[in-house]
Amino acid sequence: MAYKLGEVILSRESIARRVHELAEDIARDNGKDNSVVIVGILTGAAFFLTDLVREMPEDMDVRVDFMSVASYGDSTTSSGVVRIFHDLKSSIEGKNVIVVEDIVDTGLTLSHLLELLKGRHPASLKVCVLLDKYERRKTEVKVDYCGFRIPDKFVVGYGLDCAGKWRHLKDIKYVIEE
Ligand code: PRP
Repeated sequence: MAYKLGEVILSRESIARRVHELAEDIARDNGKDNSVVIVGILTGAAFFLTDLVREMPEDMDVRVDFMSVASYGDSTTSSGVVRIFHDLKSSIEGKNVIVVEDIVDTGLTLSHLLELLKGRHPASLKVCVLLDKYERRKTEVKVDYCGFRIPDKFVVGYGLDCAGKWRHLKDIKYVIEE
């Protein structure tokens, strides 16, 4: 199948505005110790995460860590296991953790990952996603901060890829099958 880029669904300006609002919301809700560990799930979330944390106030204690995971299973079932390719560098025990994802789709990756992270006893565990393809959900997952709810269409850019391509686009665009 060949693909080409379609129309812009989210412009760089609207993404930047929403990222700023999300950072404000997170800073406002932050615990009284004013510290947070932002956990980015590679690869797509790295783009969103770096913009998000730079919108957070200077007096906030913001730490950044990354994980690379994949959930086992085929297209219709999931074994309930997350395979870790790259784990966090630091312990999250007793920390206020926010998991940052570029997109939540079926919800399987996030729900498995949250179970895994809960087992490490953070003080709090929240989720921030840029995009929510809510129509595709197969399992309930609590999203504390959501950038945009989008329809079930193939999109790329701002970290989202098509077979590894087009992550670097500043805008988020539809992909069209040729
Ligand atoms: C995307 C996204 C989530 C997952 C969401 O990652 O970053 O991790 O898919 O899908 P789900 O809700 O159906 O589980 P992807 O596997 O595309 O990896 P990438 O970030 O490296 O592109």
